[in-house]
Amino acid sequence: MSQETDINNETACDQSTARIIFTPTGKRGEFPIGTPILQAARSLGVDLDSVCGGRGICGRCQVLCSEGDFSKHKVVSSSNHLTPFGPNEERYEKLKGEMKAGRRLGCQARLQGDVVIDVPEDSQVHRQVIRKAADHVNITLDPSVRLYYVEVQEPDMHDPSGDLKRLKKALHKEWQLTNLDCERSLYPTLQTTLRDGEWKVTVAIYDPASKETEALESSTESATGNKRILAVWPGFHDRAYGVAIDVGSTTIAAHLCNLVDGEVLASSGAMNPQIRFGEDLMSRVSYVMMNPGGDTEMTEAVIESINQLLVAVCEEAAATVEGHSEASINDILDLTFVANPVMHHLLLGINPVELGWAPFALAFDEAASLPARDMGLKANQNACAYILPCIAGHVGADAAGVVLAEKPYTLEPKTLLVDVGTNAEIVLGNKDRLLACSSPTGPAFEGAQISAGQRAAPGAIERVRIEPETLEPRFSVIGSDVWSNDDGFAEANKSLGVTGICGSGIIEVIAEMFLTGIINQDGVIQGDLQSRSDRIIEDGRTFSYLLHDGDVRIVITQNDVREIQLAKAALYAGVRLLMDKLEINAVERIRLAGAFGSHIDVKYAMVIGLIPDCDLQHVSSAGNAAGNGARIALMNVAARKEIESVVQTVEKIETAVEERFQEHFVDAMAFPNKSADFTELCKVVQMPERQASASSGEGTSGRRRSRRRKRS
Ligand code: FES
Repeated sequence: MSQETDINNETACDQSTARIIFTPTGKRGEFPIGTPILQAARSLGVDLDSVCGGRGICGRCQVLCSEGDFSKHKVVSSSNHLTPFGPNEERYEKLKGEMKAGRRLGCQARLQGDVVIDVPEDSQVHRQVIRKAADHVNITLDPSVRLYYVEVQEPDMHDPSGDLKRLKKALHKEWQLTNLDCERSLYPTLQTTLRDGEWKVTVAIYDPASKETEALESSTESATGNKRILAVWPGFHDRAYGVAIDVGSTTIAAHLCNLVDGEVLASSGAMNPQIRFGEDLMSRVSYVMMNPGGDTEMTEAVIESINQLLVAVCEEAAATVEGHSEASINDILDLTFVANPVMHHLLLGINPVELGWAPFALAFDEAASLPARDMGLKANQNACAYILPCIAGHVGADAAGVVLAEKPYTLEPKTLLVDVGTNAEIVLGNKDRLLACSSPTGPAFEGAQISAGQRAAPGAIERVRIEPETLEPRFSVIGSDVWSNDDGFAEANKSLGVTGICGSGIIEVIAEMFLTGIINQDGVIQGDLQSRSDRIIEDGRTFSYLLHDGDVRIVITQNDVREIQLAKAALYAGVRLLMDKLEINAVERIRLAGAFGSHIDVKYAMVIGLIPDCDLQHVSSAGNAAGNGARIALMNVAARKEIESVVQTVEKIETAVEERFQEHFVDAMAFPNKSADFTELCKVVQMPERQASASSGEGTSGRRRSRRRKRS
């Protein structure tokens, strides 16, 4: 039994004991000579990982001894502080070759004298995981599914008991696991598995409670029951995967994560096949209304696509990640999902028609935890699926994912989170209060309803500048850094071409048109500029701006400007409504989530009044925040409880019934806004003089009403 002690005090310890300090925690104690480092760590509650239970197989327990005289893997000091590098360490090193210089296996190295032991971050159970291809996010590793290696007592005539009972006994003895259920589907194969492994097996256990609490309280009982055995493999098995999935209306993204060490092993994405049933959410709901059984068709399509992604990420990991060449969908034991409300319902096989009309009732808004097989997912037969909770009828589990990733509920600054899509999801607030709403921005920001609009793809114009004197434009396209006025543009873009304009390009061109006076603050293209530039062209009773004349002629029409005005006014009005509710006139921080939010230049977004005024230094992209939220929920089981309770506190605002929405919408039709000041923006951008009478009054409010009617 350990005893807390001060290694620096002058009292010499008994020769039969030695003192140990663990860094970086500073935890310390005194133990009998011969105690394995892993055992000392456990006694002191030091965060040192282990999958194999101290058998020198998994290599998760590697430590660094920083006292004594050590060469690579060998203790050469005359006064050994640890036992010499042993046969199990030699074997592990030979088989896996993964021991870093100077390290020892904590389960094999035993105390011989006083030591300071460093637990490197990659050996900590609750280490911070920071990822490469996916966005960089700090996550404390504490998944709901973990692997445990055990040696099970063989059956004995004198002590008759079933194999499962003895397996549970071993899990209790070696890992202090109690109250375990076992998936029934394992019953038929359990005996063969145990015998194939010669009574040594690896068990995957699902535990909905946080390990953090368990580790801190050296209790043998977990906080909650419902732990269950999901899988059993003969011998040692070190592959346990989870997949975080973001089901968007346009794309589906999947990240395969190693639940053992938190690494993202592979990522893959696909277009959402439901697009063939309708471009945006409301057209998919309409499809269901018009076609009985349409919901089932769409559920099947999305599940099939996810199943293909599961295979794709496993194949990618097998082909590219060392040590995972045998990665298989059978190793996928946990899946987490974020999705907007309509996608959420279709994912779970729920008819989404109620989301098509007021009061936009969700079938349920709580988080869902269910067997993945019940959703038709092809992972391990007993894999678990967790879907984050929805916030409101049009603010879904994807918004909950954004909130979990961004954690505004822990911050002081009043933070605006916007996930721009065909339906913008908006969250505003701080640690004291959070509000959420959605705004029907429509698909204009995705390039739809814009004459030369297209999705963000190679060849699409994404950056635009207009020379104020000559009104001559220059631009660049996705896939190339060369600007259109640079030498070599034609050569560099030969294979890409100039195919259209994507959402970020549309925002930039309209912002530049406003800054150069091509459009006034009401959004009207100024026909009298024809005298200055032949890029202003007559188009019936209105005018257009010729951005590019080539194989594809790209013209920004008056109607395009109107579509952007409608979209940005809807979003701004939603934000402004939340500001009213919070009784603030300015936000202190803005984070733009989603693919669109990652690519737009925030300055131009503010110039057109898409987002409210704010110090630009505090406006930034949140990357794929919804997907990051799914990854956090996958890697840290406590985060699930956290977001479930935060969502309960979010105040939901339904813009459709708010009187002032219309007023804010009309004001927001102007560039950047008819009534709001953009003081911070004016410090860095020379804005056109505000006109005395700016009104887009009746006409625009009528259009606004027609847009809302699509939802009701
Ligand atoms: Fe597995 Fe030490 S605990 S090798």
